[in-house]
Amino acid sequence: MMSVSVCRVAHFNAAHRLYNKAWDFEKNQAVFGKCNNPNYHGHNYKLEVWVTGNIDPETGYVIDLGLLKSMIETEVENRFDHKNLNEDTIEFKDLNPTAENIAMVIWNRLNAKLKDDLSLRVRLYETERNIVEYAGH
Ligand code: NI
Repeated sequence: MMSVSVCRVAHFNAAHRLYNKAWDFEKNQAVFGKCNNPNYHGHNYKLEVWVTGNIDPETGYVIDLGLLKSMIETEVENRFDHKNLNEDTIEFKDLNPTAENIAMVIWNRLNAKLKDDLSLRVRLYETERNIVEYAGH
């Protein structure tokens, strides 16, 4: 069987503040700098969702990209787009919304909806230059 990777790209805009609740303001400021701004700041996130698996001989698809688009809308965009991640989402109520943690949360949500014989990798661009990737291990 031929293993092929396919990708769907999505975007969402969200606000966040990076800080550790266990630390005082000075330590948070020293570690997170401007990202610790108590009044939050935003990013235009770009998300790449890569799915790898065998080509279905009947459809010629690894996964229907229309289905993947719907999954991303439901699991990512509807939850996080135009939200304050710290204040508006349960996922980041007690989890620092770094790009690393956002990528991990997105991977967990999407992977739960994906057939077992497909493998998933997400790449999250917080900016053009700051990129994280998570593949579940
Ligand atoms: Ni930020």
